[in-house]
Amino acid sequence: MPPIQQQISRSYLEGVATSPLSAMPRAYLRWAGSKRALLRHILPLLPEAYRVYREPFFGSGALFFLLQPTHAVLSDACIELMETHRAVRDNASAVIRFLGPLIPDRDLFYSIRANRSSGRFKRAAEFIYLNKVCWNGLYRVNSAGEFNVPFGRPKSTFIVDFENLRQCSAALHRRNVRIKDGDFEKCLEGTKAGDLVFLDPPYVTRHNNNGFVDYNETLFSWSDQIRLANLAVELANHGTNVVVANANHKEVIRLYPGFRKKEIQRQSTLASSSRFRGTVSELVLYSLNERGV
Ligand SMILES: C[S@@+](CC[C@H](N)C(=O)[O-])C[C@H]1O[C@@H](n2cnc3c(N)ncnc32)[C@H](O)[C@@H]1O
Repeated sequence: MPPIQQQISRSYLEGVATSPLSAMPRAYLRWAGSKRALLRHILPLLPEAYRVYREPFFGSGALFFLLQPTHAVLSDACIELMETHRAVRDNASAVIRFLGPLIPDRDLFYSIRANRSSGRFKRAAEFIYLNKVCWNGLYRVNSAGEFNVPFGRPKSTFIVDFENLRQCSAALHRRNVRIKDGDFEKCLEGTKAGDLVFLDPPYVTRHNNNGFVDYNETLFSWSDQIRLANLAVELANHGTNVVVANANHKEVIRLYPGFRKKEIQRQSTLASSSRFRGTVSELVLYSLNERGV
C-alpha cells in the first residue's frame, strides 16, 4: 500500500480561512472554544503535507472542516456531540427533515430540552437545535447528564444552513475518516511519524498572582494538561506534527519544551455581559516534522 500523503494547499485555504462565516463546509455547530476565528492564524503553522489527521478535542471541528482530510481520526469526550456528528455523517437528509419544522421559540426550546427523543437522527436534530438556540451555544449538563443551558433569545429565525450541513456530512463520510469518542489518549493510539495531531483542549483559564483560578478544573484538570503535554512531547519527539492551542500562560509554555510558539490576541465572546468581554491572549504551540511525511 502506498504511504498516505495529504497536502495542504495553503494559498487556496487562506482565502477560505479568512471567510469563516460563508465558506463551505464550515463548522455547523456553535462551540465554546471553537477555532473558527483563529483558522487564518493556525493555517500558516501547519506542515505542507501529512499522513493521518487526528483531532481528539473535536468540538465543532472548525479546522477539520477547513482541511477536509481524506484520512482522519476524530474524537471528543462529549459523547452526544460525537453521536450528532455520526448522525450527520450517516444521513444528513434525515437530520434536516427533523430540523426543518423547528423554529427558535422559547416554549419549543424548553419542551425539546425536557423531552429528548431516542431515534438517532431526531436526537441529532434536537442537539443542533438546542445548540443554536441556547445561550451562547454553550454545552453544559446537570449531575444527571441532562443539558441545562437556558434559552438564548436568538435574534434571527435562522437555525442552520442545510447545504452546509450536507457538505459537512460529505467531509465526515469519507471512507478513511473515523469518528470515535472518549478521552484524548484513545484517539491518539497508533499515531505515527508524519501524522498531524491538532490538540485543542479546554483552556487553562484565568489566573492571578497566586497561580490558576481555573473554572475548567473539573472539566479538564491541571493534571490532564500535564498528561496531554507529556503525550504531545513524546509524539513530537517521534516525528509527529503536533499543533496545540491553549491560553497564553508561562506555565503552559513550560509544559511543551522544544515547541515553537505563536501568540494570538482576540476578543473574548464568552461572558454573560459585554462589559466583561475583553481581549484574551491565546497561544499556538507547534512542533513540525521537518523531514516531511
Ligand atoms: C476548546 S474545545 C474544542 C473546540 C474545537 N477545536 C472547535 O473548533 O470547535 C475542547 C473540547 O475538549 C473536549 N474534552 C474535554 N475533556 C476531554 C478529554 N479528556 N478528552 C477528549 N476531549 C475532551 C470538550 O468536550 C470540548 O469539546
